[in-house]
Amino acid sequence: MSDEFDVVDLIRAKRDGRSLPAAAIDWLVDAYTRGRVADEQMSAYLMAVVWRGMSPDELARWTTAMIDSGERLDLADVGRPTVDKHSTGGVGDKVSLVLVPLVAACGVAVPQLSGRGLGHTGGTLDKMESIPGWRADLPLDRMRRQLADVGAVICAAGTGLAPADRRLYALRDVTGTVESIPLIASSIMSKKIAEGTSALVLDVKVGAGAFLSSPDAARELARTMVGLGTAAGVRTAALLTAMDHPLGRTAGNALEVAEAVDTLRGGGPADLVEVTVALARVMVELAAEAAGRPADLRDPAEVLAAGGAYPVWRAMVAAQGGDPDAELPLAPTVETLPAPTSGFLTRLDARGVGVAAWRLGAGRARKEDAVSATAGVRWLAGIGDPVQAGEPLVELHTDDPATLPRARAALADAVEIGPRPAPASPLVLERIGA
Ligand code: URA
Repeated sequence: MSDEFDVVDLIRAKRDGRSLPAAAIDWLVDAYTRGRVADEQMSAYLMAVVWRGMSPDELARWTTAMIDSGERLDLADVGRPTVDKHSTGGVGDKVSLVLVPLVAACGVAVPQLSGRGLGHTGGTLDKMESIPGWRADLPLDRMRRQLADVGAVICAAGTGLAPADRRLYALRDVTGTVESIPLIASSIMSKKIAEGTSALVLDVKVGAGAFLSSPDAARELARTMVGLGTAAGVRTAALLTAMDHPLGRTAGNALEVAEAVDTLRGGGPADLVEVTVALARVMVELAAEAAGRPADLRDPAEVLAAGGAYPVWRAMVAAQGGDPDAELPLAPTVETLPAPTSGFLTRLDARGVGVAAWRLGAGRARKEDAVSATAGVRWLAGIGDPVQAGEPLVELHTDDPATLPRARAALADAVEIGPRPAPASPLVLERIGA
């Protein structure tokens, strides 16, 4: 590609609210990925996008340019329809651990290429890595074979997929330019489209513990991502799901794996089951449509309740070196916090729980930090349950007792107990697309 554009002209154009032509976007993304546009120039450009946005044509081209910066997988030879899910991240969100084997048990292949967690919401790979022996890195040929044989893969996205996003996301993280709907949508969708899945369901979380707390912003992000996926030929739909309270009863890596296993065996908390089944139904539906055949696949609710996804989980874990029968690691220190009064649990703030788990060691502040497999929070009552003053309500698990005071502080205003149960609020709020 020739040097036909001057990056300073492009920054000025975006600063002044003009749209860039397609060729300029292709050049900018390519030149930045190759190191020919400096970080400070791209930072200025990204900040201009935060303020000025992108037109739909610019956004579609920007996303395509990010996909074209690397390889695009072709999963047509897997022998089953393929569908993936992306979540914008929630506290206690172990949905992928249950959903991937569940959808595979219904007859669809799920290639879930994931990243690691940053901040107060945990990452799927961090959770899986608490299983003794399990490896996140899988060469492409092994990933394809596992997809054909087991139907379910959760692994690290290789560096070859959308490398432009890798550089851009790292830069956005340190320049205050993450919070932009076009930049978030293109970042997520470039990776998912490059992965080669034929259908995609987006779980866009809304509420106190979510990346975007406002329903309007979450809806706009969902619509934008659905538009990008559909334009790229991926059957895409989004569910907006509530993230005011954390999902299930645990937040923390091994704690969440244990809860996911209970759910895969036909038990598990009702909220986790509800969200997982809602997403699984849409995934099965879209995969069947993308494959051009009627939805003759199995119903996820029945499969989950009957424990039908558990054998797929075992096969998926074993195929990546994990021992599905191994004991999960336990934290050496567990502190119990009692309920301050009697009544009904009416609020458990997702962000407070997420920050507490993170401070106990379950999450990382910088992407190079290690995480603890055992640290986290377990709450012993769900929203609406009766609680007794002085009885255990929350457990703090950690490898390092010095983390306890700051974890306790994160939970100081997170719990509310009322004289009667609060009315139940819906978990699945809205469907967008397909
Ligand atoms: N997750 C991503 O992959 N990209 C973003 O921009 C935000 C969240």
